[in-house]
Amino acid sequence: MRGSDAEDSALQPASRRKTPVNIYLRRQFPLFSSHLDLAHHYWQRLLCPDDMALDATCGQGYDSLFLASLGLKKLFIFDIQKKALEMTRAKLQNCTTELSFHELCHSKIGDVIPQDSLTLIVYNLGYLPGSDKQVKTVPKTTLESVQTALNLLKAGGVISITCYPGHEEGALEETELLSFSKALSPTSWNVCHHSFLNRKASPSLLLIQKQK
Ligand SMILES: C[S@@+](CC[C@H](N)C(=O)[O-])C[C@H]1O[C@@H](n2cnc3c(N)ncnc32)[C@H](O)[C@@H]1O
Repeated sequence: MRGSDAEDSALQPASRRKTPVNIYLRRQFPLFSSHLDLAHHYWQRLLCPDDMALDATCGQGYDSLFLASLGLKKLFIFDIQKKALEMTRAKLQNCTTELSFHELCHSKIGDVIPQDSLTLIVYNLGYLPGSDKQVKTVPKTTLESVQTALNLLKAGGVISITCYPGHEEGALEETELLSFSKALSPTSWNVCHHSFLNRKASPSLLLIQKQK
């Protein structure tokens, strides 16, 4: 892991934090973080300014905005919906990170991004809030994308996947991602799954780190 604990927003009192956090979530999860807080915590620890990253489901652009706020060299941004890319572009108009937008299914990331080039690949699965819920990530193309993503990571790089098992297809997507990632060789990959065991179908965070 890179970055210092001193810069780590999840461990900092609110007055010293450099990045925005969701105050509601912090009250709801005072001891350990929510899945989103936890994801941001890991991304911040991992990334350095010369790194390149991918937001594979940009949606409203909140995750892209957080990533760009860390001062990356380049951020690739994918979504199948033009509306999502426009919302994200609007949020990032003042950022200094080089941005590369793609209105494409994330199963196509290998057509655009070089192998062994990315430090972080982010998926926030599901549908665009406030939009047609039928336009959502599906297990087949998500699995294809994650398989490709393994080859796009640099050594030490991480795939971060937020799963939403609260709807039928989301539950299947999480199950398939877990069985896929459990089968990865432990000599090449570290796999970790954060979930709230006593909350039915609550969102979870799956992390896959390339060792070499
Ligand atoms: C939950 S939202 C993402 C939220 C986003 N990360 C944010 O910070 O606002 C999921 C997004 O995935 C997009 N999506 C669905 N299927 C996709 C696919 N096959 N490839 C790329 N994006 C997809 C949807 O259009 C939607 O915008």
